[in-house]
Amino acid sequence: MSVLQQIEGLKKEALGELENTGDAGQLEAWRVRHLGKKSRLNEVLRSLSSLPVEDRKTVGGAANRLKAELEESLANREEVLGKQHTASARVEQLDITLPGCRPPIGRLHPVTRVIGEMSRIFTSMGFQVVEGPEVEWDYYNFEALNIPKEHPARDTMATLWVDYENEKGERPMLMRTHTSPMQVRVMENAEPPLRVVVPGKVYRYEAIDATHIPMFHQIEGFAIDTNITMADLKGTLYEFAHRFFGRDRKARFRCDYFPFVEPGVEMSIECAVCKGSGCRLCGNSGWIEILGAGMIHPRVLERVNIDPQKFSGFAFGMGIERIPMLRYGIDDIRLFYGSDLRFLRQF
Ligand code: PHE
Repeated sequence: MSVLQQIEGLKKEALGELENTGDAGQLEAWRVRHLGKKSRLNEVLRSLSSLPVEDRKTVGGAANRLKAELEESLANREEVLGKQHTASARVEQLDITLPGCRPPIGRLHPVTRVIGEMSRIFTSMGFQVVEGPEVEWDYYNFEALNIPKEHPARDTMATLWVDYENEKGERPMLMRTHTSPMQVRVMENAEPPLRVVVPGKVYRYEAIDATHIPMFHQIEGFAIDTNITMADLKGTLYEFAHRFFGRDRKARFRCDYFPFVEPGVEMSIECAVCKGSGCRLCGNSGWIEILGAGMIHPRVLERVNIDPQKFSGFAFGMGIERIPMLRYGIDDIRLFYGSDLRFLRQF
């Protein structure tokens, strides 16, 4: 076989093998085998000097052309493999059949959500939503609500007093213990007919445990108009309870006492856990108290110059944290304010 035929053979072999290379490692092996120092092509080039002078030119030319061709083919193959590689990598990165990753997003605090839900129910019944100050005067929190200085009802609301003294040496500033002072503030500033709900924070000087914290939320509601009766109070609150807790949850009213209403009542709903048969949560009564209410006391109306002969009203006040606790069976009120995301993310 002539040297030229050998070169032709090398070419076929090398180009054939090149087609079958699939990655950078195989390409390098191919380069060493066909273009490296110990390659047969290199041997041919090195042995040129031993050839007869007439052959050197043709064989040398053919060998050098092959070398150039192989180098070019190598470069081309490299490019082809590189493109395939990045193309397949990109396809792998963008597997459009995978579900997307949801970026973490915040959500409303469960208490905020309950306030929103309750406010929507009451606004749909014609109530307006207003808010009021958390630092309050004794006058609005107690006095104007028919709870004078030495009244025993003050004891039921352990008060956090603000360290402020007026010219008379009195300390009349406090953290509101309920949202009821807003009844008086609204009545001072607006004429009946009134239908208002007031969600917000309230404060009591309590030792902290599973059911007591010094700051919690209430929603106050009241309606003042001509001919408002106990039937309106009951109708409104039954409707609220049915919409909020479900049509099949029973609700009941019983007598209770609050100095700023007459008569006063408390409303309870059937216990969600035992469905009324009695369990630990409801203290075996089958009922859970959710709010205090009543017909606004004529003395409260008189004080803000609303004529009790002409107008009457009902009012109610409900603790808010208790509601999601009852709904979701949460047994520790401190969880709401512990900032533990594992808890808060459930809502
Ligand atoms: N303010 C009362 C409380 O905090 C609840 C209440 C509001 C009762 C309105 C009657 C009328 O316990």
